Amino acid sequence: MASFYEKHVLPRLIRCGCGCEMLAQKRAALIPGASGRVLELGIGGGLNLKFYDPARVSGVTGIDPSAELRAYARAAPRPDGLAVEILDASAEEIPFEDGCFDTVVTTFTLCTVPDAPRALAEARRVLRPGGQLLFCEHGRAPDAGVAAWQRRVEPVWKRVFGGCHLTRPVSGNIAARFSIERLESGYMPKTPRLAGWVEWGRAVAG
Ligand SMILES: C[S@@+](CC[C@H](N)C(=O)[O-])C[C@H]1O[C@@H](n2cnc3c(N)ncnc32)[C@H](O)[C@@H]1O
Repeated sequence: MASFYEKHVLPRLIRCGCGCEMLAQKRAALIPGASGRVLELGIGGGLNLKFYDPARVSGVTGIDPSAELRAYARAAPRPDGLAVEILDASAEEIPFEDGCFDTVVTTFTLCTVPDAPRALAEARRVLRPGGQLLFCEHGRAPDAGVAAWQRRVEPVWKRVFGGCHLTRPVSGNIAARFSIERLESGYMPKTPRLAGWVEWGRAVAG
């Protein structure tokens, strides 16, 4: 059973932390590239919804195991004409048949899902051949000093932020399942470096 913290504090913390202006700029650059039938992994508070282009997207399905965050996502702003469904499901066990999505979106989710490689294998399975994965994720920093701090802080960080990891490789995990066609990375400004290394781009299912 979820604790008071998990039910009432963590969802607000996640929505607030993920809702900052710097991340909104990343979302605004990435999400308009989505097209066709879209699946969003760990949709959280639905903060990407307002950036989808309804002229390019036939519908967005968001999955998330958190009932509280799903409720936020259902109420999140979105463009007129964008069809959205929000479901209770895990990225490691996506309840859809093979090859039925054109785009899978993952933003700041692979840090938290318990088994990120399995989530990526599932994303690959439900994408049609040639379908795209749009990603923006934080993870293991390339600088040894920062990475050492990430390892030290991660045990406490995970407890405070609902299982969020600091040390997971981002593009390394994605490249095991997809062809990465565009990759950018860098430290987010005004963010502690241990949580600020972000990699974003587009990968294709072969
Ligand atoms: C840091 S939040 C990011 C939310 C959202 N993707 C965003 O960009 O704002 C991490 C999200 O992953 C979700 N999550 C945790 N475990 C998951 C799983 N196994 N499958 C899918 N989503 C999961 C959490 O409930 C939460 O909504």
